[in-house]
Amino acid sequence: MAYAALPHSPAEFVALHGRHSSLVLECHADEAPLWRYWGPRLADGCTPGLPLRETRPLPSFMLDHDQPLSALPGFGVGWFGQSALLAHRNGRDFAFAPQRCEWQHSADGQRLTVTLHDAVAHLRATLHLALDAHSDVLRMHTTLANTAPAGTAALDVGWLAAATLPLPSSCTQVRSYSGQHMMEFLLQQEALTRSTWRRENRRGRTSQDCFPGAVVCAEGSTAHSGLVFGAHLAWSGNHQQSIEWLHDGQYQWQLGEWLAPGELRLAPSAEVQTPEVVATLSTQGLNGLAANFHTELRRRLPWPGGTMKPRPVHLNTWEALYFNHQLPDLLALADAAAEVGVERFVLDDGWFQGREHDRAALGDWWADARKYPQGLQPLAAHVVARGMEFGLWFEPEMVNPDSELHRAHPDWALQLDGRPMLTARNQLVLDVSRPEVSDYLFNKMHRLLSSLPISYIKWDHNRDLACAGNAQGVAAWRAQVPAAYALMDRLRAAHPALEIESCSGGGGRIDYAVLQRTHRVWTSDNIDALSRVDIQRGFLQFFPPEIMGAHIGTAPAHSTGRTQAMAFRGAVALPGHLGVELDVRHLDGSTRAQLKGWIALYKHWRGHLHHSQVWLGDAGDHTVWQMHGTAGGSDFLLLSYRTAPSSQRYMRSVLLPMLQAACRYRLRVVTPEGLPEDQLYCGSAPFFDALRSPDGVVMDGSWLQHAGLPLPRNKAETAFIVHLQRL
Ligand code: GLA
Repeated sequence: MAYAALPHSPAEFVALHGRHSSLVLECHADEAPLWRYWGPRLADGCTPGLPLRETRPLPSFMLDHDQPLSALPGFGVGWFGQSALLAHRNGRDFAFAPQRCEWQHSADGQRLTVTLHDAVAHLRATLHLALDAHSDVLRMHTTLANTAPAGTAALDVGWLAAATLPLPSSCTQVRSYSGQHMMEFLLQQEALTRSTWRRENRRGRTSQDCFPGAVVCAEGSTAHSGLVFGAHLAWSGNHQQSIEWLHDGQYQWQLGEWLAPGELRLAPSAEVQTPEVVATLSTQGLNGLAANFHTELRRRLPWPGGTMKPRPVHLNTWEALYFNHQLPDLLALADAAAEVGVERFVLDDGWFQGREHDRAALGDWWADARKYPQGLQPLAAHVVARGMEFGLWFEPEMVNPDSELHRAHPDWALQLDGRPMLTARNQLVLDVSRPEVSDYLFNKMHRLLSSLPISYIKWDHNRDLACAGNAQGVAAWRAQVPAAYALMDRLRAAHPALEIESCSGGGGRIDYAVLQRTHRVWTSDNIDALSRVDIQRGFLQFFPPEIMGAHIGTAPAHSTGRTQAMAFRGAVALPGHLGVELDVRHLDGSTRAQLKGWIALYKHWRGHLHHSQVWLGDAGDHTVWQMHGTAGGSDFLLLSYRTAPSSQRYMRSVLLPMLQAACRYRLRVVTPEGLPEDQLYCGSAPFFDALRSPDGVVMDGSWLQHAGLPLPRNKAETAFIVHLQRL
């Protein structure tokens, strides 16, 4: 038995700085770098001074060699917290603690690469960190290489953290998101304690149930102020994250893929790269954090041609017609849509061979011969001739047992020998990682995209993965994700002008990785405007409004049976990527005029809404608001929503801290054309009458910041929209 020496090499401090944040690692040549800091901006050149171990006396009965939190916590060699890696080779080589470390700081000072070698376990791990100087967004991922000699058993990896982040002891609360179909981004607020906080997702897609990310708040932070941290795993499959209390009072936060047994096995010389963690902190509270995330996502979005064109108003056929596609109806619907101002007509589910209901046909991606005897061309040409883009729905990864595809290739579906075929919405999942499967899907989609004027596809994924075994009987949740990305990338390469919407029974696939190849998400199948208020507020913590599919639906809402006025439906959908999902042909005159008014208003404001910052606030008494503008800018749009009847006789004012104290602002109520008098607010007072006059009301920035803007005494499920213009 030979023993290694304890690490003893000198410390070097490496810092990365953003505009408002910094991180510091303590690097040693013979161990993983120790986390020293991730927090508000430090002065240039500031270092901790002393190595960490010299600043902390050893507690009683501890290992004699102090083991602080590192950027890649090991296993089995003295670290008792969560490890960044759990792996073995046939039960051996289970310990991990690198003995050699090299680090490289990029010339611009914003990136750091740390390579760790464990000669005992025959592993090499590389950590990649990049801190964006402008947005304060920290991107991290890890690569792991099996450096064992050829012929050695494969390395079986059970857990590999994409990143391990430190959180200071001032953190008290974690905000995460759970949900289900029709109820996405359900906020969960929990206290951090000495018990480990953990969220895991094993549904094989990003999921509505467990959003891969969270926000951690330091004591005293608010929507607009104080220290908050956020992290998100850019990955559309299984995932896990944990926050663990450590004995020095701080917490470690790990995020990574959740791996099924046997799913990640590295042969000698093989290497794996984790998904990316996108993390950031702000001293400006939850809204500052959202601004950082939005900046990063806007940087990543893959717009055809490099820039986002104004987000076109959609008409989606789903809730208008469901599976009942009759060409005359669709032509008339397109006419009615064009008449109210729709710019993109999306033909949803129901168009392909044999798709009469949701029990058959997924996989048979050609136009149904009965519904479309001449194919989709007549409809597509009609839509384009009306000045609209034509979009088409697909659910590529799925197959119904009752389909020509499944009858021809029953082995293409993920399945497990000896287990039941578990369908969901009557469908199975194709093993897209098989080249013949992805070629089949590419060819079918490519053919339609090449022969029709299709500039948009809605890419759906309507079930969780279960019994996800591949043809070799190996767990295949993980392989499905890059295979789906590759199919999207291949289609985008063949059709560079194509835009894609990511949908998964509504918002089941919303993450920063799918959004590197898609341009809009279907936020939820729940279009009830009242439900949408909460769903959208959760969404906006991580994602900007221009990719948030937001439709004006029918009343009563198909998802909930509740009825809301067009004024409320329009106002709630307004800030997102607007769409209409109802049968426009059958609206009465007043409702159609109002719908037209909302569409026109959206076209007027979308340039502002989709390029600015969003601040979310809560005025109490069932009133929430959001402000769209730019800090120091001249135009702001305030949208305030009353979700339930007031329990107060007089309303609270809304404090608007994002305005400039020394400036004055002209305020005017914003209403769409065609809106009935009483729809946007009720109860009158001279102030609100003046707000509606062409000159509006002029108010001091300082007053609006600290004393606030009075709100009208609105009825439940109404909105109040105000334009604030700096003088
Ligand atoms: C999912 C989507 C809907 C619609 C249907 C079609 O539920 O979220 O918008 O496309 O599939 O089957």
